[in-house]
Amino acid sequence: MFAHQCALAGYGQIVSPMFEELAVFKRLGESTDVVTKEMFNFFDKKEKNPTEFALRPELTASVVRAYVQHRPAPPWKVWYEGPQFRYERPQAGRYRQFTQVGVEALGTDDPYVDVEVIALASQFYAALGLTQVRLLLNSLGDDSCRPAYMEALTSYLRSNAADLSEQSSATLEVNPLRVLDSKRPEDQAIVDAAPIMVDFLSEETSAHFDVVRSGLDALDVAYEISPRLVRGLDYYTRTTFEFAGDALEGSQNAVGGGGRYDGLAEALGGPATPGIGFALGVERILLACDAEGVFPAPETLVDVFVVDLTGGAEALTLTDSLRAGGLRADRAFGGRSMKAQMKLADRSGASIALLVGEDEVAAGTVTVRSLRTQRDQLSVSRSDVVTETKSLLEQLALLETLKMETRS
Ligand code: HAM
Repeated sequence: MFAHQCALAGYGQIVSPMFEELAVFKRLGESTDVVTKEMFNFFDKKEKNPTEFALRPELTASVVRAYVQHRPAPPWKVWYEGPQFRYERPQAGRYRQFTQVGVEALGTDDPYVDVEVIALASQFYAALGLTQVRLLLNSLGDDSCRPAYMEALTSYLRSNAADLSEQSSATLEVNPLRVLDSKRPEDQAIVDAAPIMVDFLSEETSAHFDVVRSGLDALDVAYEISPRLVRGLDYYTRTTFEFAGDALEGSQNAVGGGGRYDGLAEALGGPATPGIGFALGVERILLACDAEGVFPAPETLVDVFVVDLTGGAEALTLTDSLRAGGLRADRAFGGRSMKAQMKLADRSGASIALLVGEDEVAAGTVTVRSLRTQRDQLSVSRSDVVTETKSLLEQLALLETLKMETRS
């Protein structure tokens, strides 16, 4: 579904390597947790001057590295999916290996590309059936206005440093913006009263942000301005955003995020090239789907269970023809008793059991037993078993639907 939506919007797929030179990822920000604590890095086997590599913690840096290396014609719009690696303390919704899907659009700073990118993510959540995903939007300014803001923020935080938590006082010295991200109760009053970037935006960045907002309005993409939204990576400029899954537990509720990184291509040795993108966390999206009750996992793995009382060879050919006919079929192994096999059939969730004993083999038949209704059974010819089973499954499904409609 994600690939389809990206294709509709003119994004081509990019497949990036699982690891890159560590230097590529250092551009995410020397003071970010991702770079200082969460990288899985290693040296190659060169004896002299070995090169340090790292498993990718995200894909934006790799995509921009590929852009700088291969210089495709801009605007270059790509989508990706795949595993990322961050050395974190694993917990619900936070893993050391997790999956992202995302897009990057390089080569234009037109605010309408920001709108296109944000709308794409937002429409993906909607297409999955998620209704409790909130889009938080901010502008982090650029070189024309960020330094003045950083000065104001740093001096405000320094003057309140005595009341900040120990961790935030330490963060203040390396990356004052990240203090705004503190969830510690003792920091809240100070964070809430801190100066905000949107009050410092230059005329140009402010006008850019206005177009992004009106574009989202035009597409009916709902958002909240979140002036204290900062992201965990340092490359962001101007438009930044995050998607909060409200059905998830607070600290791990970011189901996706992204923004502009207009200086990243230059930092990686390429020509100045604006860019914007997002990445969505697939595992967290699945958790949100569970929490919102969309996408219920299929109740059963199989439709049919074969019970073979002749030793197992009949089940071999029978399951083979059922599977070839498109039916999900399973069987017991290990020459078990009829009672044990019927227990397994019940546990499998199948709607139908097919029984074959010596009598059936002699007569060229199979006994079909419903596991859902009153255990009715009938005998069908072995040559018709696939068609008969399919038709019985359809009748059972119809009965289920009728039952559900009567209940509601
Ligand atoms: P990020 O905010 O670090 O951004 O990650 C994006 C999403 O990946 C998060 O919102 C979350 O859903 C998921 N995620 C991150 N870390 C974990 C983890 N340890 N376990 C499970 N899920 C996780 C980026 O990665 C940027 N590259 C996004 C971007 C693209 N910005 C511009 N273009």
